[in-house]
Amino acid sequence: MKNVLVLDASMRKGYTGALAQEAAKRLSTSYNVETVCLRDENIETCKGCCLCLSEGSGRCPLREDGARAILQKMTAAQGIVFLVPNYSLQIPGKLKTLLDRLAYVFHRPRLFHTVFMPLTVQGVYGGKDINKYLNKVFRFWGARTVKGTVLPGGIYPKDIGEKLFTAKNTGKLDKALREFDREMAAVKPKKPSLFQVAVFRSTRSAMRYFDDTLKPDKEYYRKNGWYEAAYYYPVRLNLLKKTVGYLIDRQMKAAAKKAKANQKAAAS
Ligand SMILES: Cc1cc2nc3c(=O)[nH]c(=O)nc-3n(C[C@H](O)[C@H](O)[C@H](O)COP(=O)(O)O)c2cc1C
Repeated sequence: MKNVLVLDASMRKGYTGALAQEAAKRLSTSYNVETVCLRDENIETCKGCCLCLSEGSGRCPLREDGARAILQKMTAAQGIVFLVPNYSLQIPGKLKTLLDRLAYVFHRPRLFHTVFMPLTVQGVYGGKDINKYLNKVFRFWGARTVKGTVLPGGIYPKDIGEKLFTAKNTGKLDKALREFDREMAAVKPKKPSLFQVAVFRSTRSAMRYFDDTLKPDKEYYRKNGWYEAAYYYPVRLNLLKKTVGYLIDRQMKAAAKKAKANQKAAAS
């Protein structure tokens, strides 16, 4: 059975938690499900030192808290479902803190073939953009994303609104979970967009040809064999994506050669 991680990102045992439980119950008929409640985790605020980027995640001064363990759970899962309350048109601060703490994953993506789906719980307005934001983050981290849905009506005290909220949202939850199942069952590697190919090729060529890129990133790209790869993982690219990739590589190589010549001239 595939593993699915459900993250309840609410700061109270509220509507988000109720739906996380409901989602976990439904998912557990097909998957091994683990639920993490973010409010129970110790995630310290990022100090902004950038050591995870410049020296490696093992040098983070906060490395002993819960952030790394959550990333390990995410990488061990084949599917991830986030249930997120809308706080002031955005994700709760603690979830943003977790994303900040894992910012090095933007530099060293890893969740290839992992399916990610956000479900935003809210009162009335703003959840669509939250789902879009989370999907964008997880696409940068490598995941195959499912649009997810917004589950509204969480404005009343939970004891008054719970029945109405659940009745209103069960159908939407089921529909989203069916989309998640479909993506989990997909066997072909996900075709990247032109933008994703461009990001990969410009980053990997920078790692390959420029000396002054961040060392942990350079090493990560080298270890993964990405200096020679067409994309992060084997996948067929159409002619346009192949051509754009080739042109980006060539341009980056030329730019690095020029930069080295300029440095040499300045030093002599
Ligand atoms: C700090 C805070 C900010 C909120 N901001 C919004 C908002 O911008 N839009 C919205 O529709 N609901 C907003 N809400 C309502 C929550 O999204 C809603 O009550 C949701 O059910 C919270 O999840 P919970 O029940 O798990 O606590 C806010 C709630 C809180 C606590």
